[in-house]
Amino acid sequence: MDNKITFKKLDKENYETLKEWWHSERVKQFWDNSEKMEEDVDNYVLKGQKSYYDYYIGFYDGVPYALVMTSEQTADDYYEYYKDYLSKTGKTFAIDFMIGNENFVGKHLSSLTLRTFVEQYSDEEADRFIIDPEYDNEIAFKCYKGAGFVDVDSYVVNDGFFKGKKLHLMIRGREKQQAIDEKPFIPTER
Ligand SMILES: CC(C)(COP(=O)(O)OP(=O)(O)OC[C@H]1O[C@@H](n2cnc3c(N)ncnc32)[C@H](O)[C@@H]1OP(=O)(O)O)[C@@H](O)C(=O)NCCC(=O)NCCS
Repeated sequence: MDNKITFKKLDKENYETLKEWWHSERVKQFWDNSEKMEEDVDNYVLKGQKSYYDYYIGFYDGVPYALVMTSEQTADDYYEYYKDYLSKTGKTFAIDFMIGNENFVGKHLSSLTLRTFVEQYSDEEADRFIIDPEYDNEIAFKCYKGAGFVDVDSYVVNDGFFKGKKLHLMIRGREKQQAIDEKPFIPTER
C-alpha cells in the first residue's frame, strides 16, 4: 500500500480541530479529557510549554485525522505500572492514540497509522513503546495488536481519571514489522 501517512507536532493550525476530536462522545468514552489534560495541551500549543507529553497530529494525504501523544519514561520519572517494562538499551516512550476525524474511523487505518508512527519516530534512541488500552476498549486492543504491540501484562489503575479500570499493558520495539493482514484503506468523503 502506498503509505500517505505523515506526522507533525501539534501547533495552532490544528488546535481547534484537535479540541473537537477530544470532546466528541466517541473519544470521550476512553480519553482523559480532565482539566489537567486540557491545561497540558493548552500550555503546549498556546504557550509552547511542554510538561510531560508531546502531541503529534497524523495526516492522511494532507488531511488531519489522528493524534499520537508520547511521554518519555525515564529511570527517574516513569508511570508506576511501567516500571518492569522500561528499555535497558534505549529510551522508552508511552503512547496515547486516537483516530479523531470521523471520516477515518472504522476504515482499518489505525494499525497502519500507529505502526508508521513508531517505525519513523524522530527520536532514534527510542527502542521501546508502551501502550495500555482498557479491557473494555476492544477496538483499541485489536488496533495495537495489528500495529505489532504485544500484550505482556495488565493492571488496575489505583487513582486519577482511569481509577478502577483494568488495562492491558502492551509493548513493542521500533523495528519495521511486516503487517500480518493489511487491509485496503479507501478514503470516503472528507
Ligand atoms: C481505537 C481507535 C484508534 C481505532 O481506530 P478505528 O478507526 O476505530 O479502528 P479500525 O477500523 O482501524 O479497526 C481496528 C480493529 O478494530 C476492529 N473493529 C473495528 N470496529 C470494531 C467494533 N465495533 N467492534 C469490534 N472490533 C472492531 C477492526 O476489525 C480492526 O481489527 P482487525 O484489524 O483485526 O480487523 C479509534 O476507535 C479511536 O480513536 N477510539 C477513541 C479513542 C480511543 O479509544 N483511543 C485509545 C485509547 S487506549
